[in-house]
Amino acid sequence: MKFKRRTHTCGELREKNIGERVVLNGWVDTRRDLGGVIFIDLRDRYGITQVVFEPAFDKEAHELAKKLRSEFVVSVEGEVRHRPEDTENPNLPTGMVDVKVDKLIILNEAKTPPFQIKDEIDVNEDLRLKYRYLDLRRSRMQKNLLLRHRVYQIVREYFDRNNFIEIETPMLMKSTPEGARDFLVPSRVHKGKFYALPQSPQTYKQILMVSGYDRYFQITKCFRDEDLRADRQPEFTQIDVEMSFVDVEDIFEVVEGLMKQLFEEVWNIELKTPIPRLSFDDAMEKYGSDKPDLRFGLEMVTLNEIFDNSEFRVFRDILANKGIITSLLAKGCGDYTRNQLDVLTDFVKKLGAGGLIWMRVKEDGLEAPVAKFFSDSEKENLVKKINAEPGDLLFIISGPRLKALSIMGSLRLEMARRLDLIKEGASPKLLWVTDFPLLEWDEEAGRFYAMHHPFTSPKLEDVDFLDSDPSKVRARAYDLVLNGNEIAGGSIRIHTAELQSKMFKALGISKEEAEEKFGFLMNAFKFGAPPHGGIAFGFDRMVMLFAGEKSIRDVMAFPKTTSGLSLMDNSPSDVSEEQLRELHIKIR
Ligand code: AMO
Repeated sequence: MKFKRRTHTCGELREKNIGERVVLNGWVDTRRDLGGVIFIDLRDRYGITQVVFEPAFDKEAHELAKKLRSEFVVSVEGEVRHRPEDTENPNLPTGMVDVKVDKLIILNEAKTPPFQIKDEIDVNEDLRLKYRYLDLRRSRMQKNLLLRHRVYQIVREYFDRNNFIEIETPMLMKSTPEGARDFLVPSRVHKGKFYALPQSPQTYKQILMVSGYDRYFQITKCFRDEDLRADRQPEFTQIDVEMSFVDVEDIFEVVEGLMKQLFEEVWNIELKTPIPRLSFDDAMEKYGSDKPDLRFGLEMVTLNEIFDNSEFRVFRDILANKGIITSLLAKGCGDYTRNQLDVLTDFVKKLGAGGLIWMRVKEDGLEAPVAKFFSDSEKENLVKKINAEPGDLLFIISGPRLKALSIMGSLRLEMARRLDLIKEGASPKLLWVTDFPLLEWDEEAGRFYAMHHPFTSPKLEDVDFLDSDPSKVRARAYDLVLNGNEIAGGSIRIHTAELQSKMFKALGISKEEAEEKFGFLMNAFKFGAPPHGGIAFGFDRMVMLFAGEKSIRDVMAFPKTTSGLSLMDNSPSDVSEEQLRELHIKIR
């Protein structure tokens, strides 16, 4: 089919073009047929331009235009004119002009789309994902993908300017335990053997440090077979960074420089550095989360001291077991109804709390079912400690330390939502969370796991605890948190064989197991490994926040559902017997 190449995009024409002959190519966004005149909004990714068909401009074109429907692809040719008085649309960049069409070519017809191509649509996400190619025509999605593109460019330019080199690492690699489950790829040539898709390029980037590429970065796909959520996909993108001869401060400096630039270019906000820091312990105690949202206060307060000698058995037992009593003050919520309090009690119980203690603060003291178990001085100290005033509502949760704190942290977020504490347009809040525990005790498995990964260095002053009390060891690990979302995480690595074997021992990994799983890395380390460390950004999450979206799926071109399906191409899907045979696989 012959068609004339466009002279302008659909977002380009202005009053200065009036009188020019132009050709536009695009999709029919909307069509209005006013008897003698047909108006088409013609759309491409640059914008929308109104084009007009009248028998007086061209009979044939007008006749053909009657056939046009939404999403038909057309080429139109005609003259740009000022829109007739009172029909201008100041909300549209092209809104002062339209095109008098005298030539129309229908390049392709289109079925009626299952949803309208506009921003405010009320359709379920599955339908959007099935027809992703249509969903991606919507300007909101186009804006998001464009922003994503810009962030790639800013990141690449930043690292290049700062002397980092981009190096690709393999997508087919050895299966190494890194926290999540691996996606495995069977080898056809090597019967019964598997590659794994990288959960991250962690081992490769450390090996690159051994090779002397002391400032490395890469924007790369990572794959993790884990439970999916709004901020988690089975394949996602990281900005991966590693540096040699550095300490934590050097990594922070590089990252803060990048964040400064992104804030500036994306949000036009001047980011003040250094970014505030909070230790894991403080974050948990004040906010009940290792990724606290600091856009609002609502700090939790620990009450252990107050109930040191309590007669209340629940508290006594908890304190005897090294647990915690944590509280949250909801300003002005003293008039919450019993029903509202029951809903909140259910909320925390679902998260595993034994219960929720609530107390109304009155002029003459605390009013609550449990108040009778507290002594007068306990009540008095309590009110003082948390600065409670009449009309306030006080929540208390007690239990094992991290569990109780994180449940109260969830209640903190829930109360912030109910009290509408995060205002539209609130300034974004960045935070470093530091000094994570090196190891995490897994009750079920009865062993320690590395909280970050097994190559993360302990704080040097804590190394001796590795043998005596591993739970006490803090890591040289850090996360970067934006508005309550973990957008990056990293650590200074272990670079000596001696410390690494201590670490494996603490993790209960035998010499043989370490050799089998990490031998290649340990071998590399025998040939002169420099001190090194790094970080990786969750690229999709970061773009999601910059775009003001709530799901990373909205900033990915072709995401999967929360159950890992790609609804557009129906994967995962069956494969032929022949393919399975070649791969030496039998499905049971
Ligand atoms: P980590 O596992 O913390 O560190 O990952 C880094 C960042 O990646 C993002 N992220 C995800 N985003 C979307 N979907 C997922 N399933 C997903 N999982 C993680 C998060 C997270 O902060 N190799 C180390 C980094 C290092 O030590 O240098 C690593 O991968 O935003």
